[in-house]
Amino acid sequence: MKEIIQLNGITSGYPGRQDILRELDFTLRPGQRIGLIGPNGCGKSTLLHTIMGLVPIRSGTIRLFGRQVNTEAEFHDARLRLGFLFQHADDQLFSPSVLEDVAFGPLNQGLGRREALDKAMATITRLGLEGFEDRVPYKLSGGEKKLAALATILVMEPDALLLDEPTTGLDKDTKQRILTILQGLDIACLVVSHEPDFLAEATDTLVALRDGQVVRSEAHAHTHVHIHEGGEEPHLHD
Ligand SMILES: Nc1ncnc2c1ncn2[C@@H]1O[C@H](COP(=O)(O)OP(=O)(O)OP(=O)(O)O)[C@@H](O)[C@H]1O
Ligand SMILES: [Mg+2]
Repeated sequence: MKEIIQLNGITSGYPGRQDILRELDFTLRPGQRIGLIGPNGCGKSTLLHTIMGLVPIRSGTIRLFGRQVNTEAEFHDARLRLGFLFQHADDQLFSPSVLEDVAFGPLNQGLGRREALDKAMATITRLGLEGFEDRVPYKLSGGEKKLAALATILVMEPDALLLDEPTTGLDKDTKQRILTILQGLDIACLVVSHEPDFLAEATDTLVALRDGQVVRSEAHAHTHVHIHEGGEEPHLHD
C-alpha cells in the first residue's frame, strides 16, 4: 500500500514571516503510529497544518494517499480521509449544537441527514458525551470541547489521524478513554503531544521537530511507576 503522507523538501511558513519548516522530509506509512515532540513554537502545529493544506508551501512536494496534492480541490478530497484534530478545539467547532458539529463531516462525505445524525449520535455516545448533543459547543468546558472536537473527526472513520495535543487539559479518566479509543483503531496516526507517557502508550515511534526538520527523537518515552515527587506530572528522563 502507498504511503499515506509523504513530504519531500517542504519549506513553509506564514505570509510575511520567515520559514518555519525548512526542507523537511516526513513519511507516514499505513499502520505507523508516530509521536511528534518539540518545544513550544518550533512548528509542530504548522507541520500538521501544512499537511492539511492550510499553510501554503514555498517549496517541496506533498503527497497524500499516493497522489501529489497542490490545489484546494485535491486537498479537499484528502481532508475527507485524514482526521485532523486542531490544537484549539474552538477552531474545530462552529455549529449551533454538538450534534450538528459531529454530523457535519458525515454530511460532507455524502450521507443523508438521518444517517449522518444517527452516526453522530453513536460517536457522541462512544466518547461519553451523551447528554451534550444539544449543547452549544462554545459554551462547553475545555475538556468537553476537546472530546466534541475528537468526535467530529472519529465520526468520519478516517484512514489516518493527525492529532494536535489530543489530551491537553483532559483529566486522567478522559485521557484513558481517548487512549483506549485510539488503541482500538487500526489506523496510522501522527500525534503531537507534550505528554511522554501518553505518547508511549499511543504511538510506537517518536520523532522531534528541530530547526524546521523532523529528526529521530533522542528522548525515549516510556511508561513507568513514579516513585519520585512530582511523578504524576508528565516529564522526560535523560
Ligand atoms: N497564523 C500564524 N501567523 C503567523 N505566525 C504564526 C501563525 N501560527 C503560528 N505562527 C508562528 O509560527 C511558529 C510555529 O508555531 P506552531 O504553532 O507551529 O508551534 P508549535 O510547535 O505547535 O507550538 P506549541 O507547542 O506551543 O503548540 C511560532 O513562532 C508561531 O508564533
Ligand atoms: Mg502547537
